[in-house]
Amino acid sequence: MPDDRIKVHNRDHEAYLRDFDALPFERIMETFRVKKIKEIALTIQLTDVSEILEIGPGYNSLAATLWQNSQWTLLEPSKDLFALNVKKFESRTNIQILNHSLEEYFAALGENRFEMVLLSSVLHELISPIDALRQIHRCLPVGSKMLIVVPNNQSVHRQFGVTLDILKDTNSQTSTEKMMQQKANYSISSLEELLVLAGFKSIYTSTSFVKPHTHKQMQEWVDSKRLLSDDLDHLYNLSFAFHPFNAEIFMMVEKV
Ligand SMILES: C[S@@+](CC[C@H](N)C(=O)[O-])C[C@H]1O[C@@H](n2cnc3c(N)ncnc32)[C@H](O)[C@@H]1O
Repeated sequence: MPDDRIKVHNRDHEAYLRDFDALPFERIMETFRVKKIKEIALTIQLTDVSEILEIGPGYNSLAATLWQNSQWTLLEPSKDLFALNVKKFESRTNIQILNHSLEEYFAALGENRFEMVLLSSVLHELISPIDALRQIHRCLPVGSKMLIVVPNNQSVHRQFGVTLDILKDTNSQTSTEKMMQQKANYSISSLEELLVLAGFKSIYTSTSFVKPHTHKQMQEWVDSKRLLSDDLDHLYNLSFAFHPFNAEIFMMVEKV
């Protein structure tokens, strides 16, 4: 039964993909994001999850490396990324891949079965994050978990931007956010506030990856070999010393 409480998502997913492909440094961030999520799964001892919904897997589905025996549903609105995931997982019978946005999917879904939702690097791109979170919440059993990853607006590189008068304050939209049609950015407290408003309670929070400069600058340093693979590992390993000012927020919440 369609649910008209949720706004239809009119984003041009193919144009988005072209911009995303042109975005430097994101592919490197993706590898560290997966590493961090694996560490979180171990830390909070989330080893056994039967039904998982991954929203917006992009190039970087967690089904490739985590919870290999679970039943997965992947929602990917971009046609090209959908096709890529279908090909990538053609031999995995426990993975169902749907070419839908989360708004389309939840508008049609009455009951549900998911024990875990993965929303990694997607929330800040949605037209109405609170509507989407409420829709997800409505369709989850009590006690289900959701892992959210978003860029951190308190990241060191944004603090630099403010000091250098490039950004008015840490909440201001950066040029990358404008290019990527990103509507909102979050600190730990504003993210938690939004999730509580949607009916979730936070059970674990962390930040990861020391990013002293913009994506563009970081990629230039990688291209000119000023930043090597070992240096990138150090920036990841140094995260403990820079919390809560690392590049990304990782928050695990539970439906109450
Ligand atoms: C930055 S990528 C994140 C990829 C991956 N999850 C990661 O963490 O690296 C954003 C993904 O969200 C997808 N996406 C954007 N809007 C969406 C929506 N309304 N519903 C579901 N997925 C969406 C994009 O197509 C893309 O696959």
